[in-house]
Amino acid sequence: MKKLMAANWKMYKTVEEGVKTAEELTGLLGEMPADREVLVCPSLTMLQAVCPILKQAGCHAGAQNFYPSKQGAFTGEIAPEQLLDLGCTHALAGHSERRHVLGEMNELIGRKVTFGLEAGLHMILCIGETIVERRLGQIEEVLARQLESGLAEVLTTARAENLSVAYEPVWAIGTGEVAGPDEVLAAHAFVRAKLKSLLPQEGGRVRILYGGSVKPDNAAAIIRLDNVDGVLVGGASLKADSFSQIVLA
Ligand code: 13P
Repeated sequence: MKKLMAANWKMYKTVEEGVKTAEELTGLLGEMPADREVLVCPSLTMLQAVCPILKQAGCHAGAQNFYPSKQGAFTGEIAPEQLLDLGCTHALAGHSERRHVLGEMNELIGRKVTFGLEAGLHMILCIGETIVERRLGQIEEVLARQLESGLAEVLTTARAENLSVAYEPVWAIGTGEVAGPDEVLAAHAFVRAKLKSLLPQEGGRVRILYGGSVKPDNAAAIIRLDNVDGVLVGGASLKADSFSQIVLA
């Protein structure tokens, strides 16, 4: 299984800056290593400009969010079909900033996963516990709930190659505090077991990414842990040289 090395540019960069970073990144990566796949999720504003640059280099372009409807009166939202129209192949759902800053609930996130898959996008369901939940010993309960509701309606139709899960402990996002190897191993083993029980046919092959303060100097150790099939990188993906080092770690 190829490792999926994913960049989440969040709400950063102008179109010009995004194009420059994408060009630098694809230049630095050159020929893609056989065991890696690269995905960049920029802001919607620059998708049209950045998609062709990524595609030409064999990288994927993804969206950070969408609304689960074909079209309609949803002011300010964007539909999966509009993303596909721009050349997008992947999308995130349930990122912790959408859960905790924008108040997205499990039920809506589940609808996004189902709708995105049906529209033909590769969906990355993001899950993770807060520091309070970790201290209260609720990690497994939280991850189980987020997986069950996130995948509630795709149980029979999901195909492993179209679905990934990103474990991003909220306390490790943007804090410089990366989860230790034992913490990553335990969480990913739990996610793997849960995926196998929810998706008996495909759960063993759904990629599980780690996200939260991944940097060039810790990426190699993280990516080699059991059940770590890729990474989802925020801050360190904004510069082409640091993200290219992570991709090649
Ligand atoms: P950082 O890599 O900045 O911690 O962000 C992780 C993240 O939220 C990726 O989606």
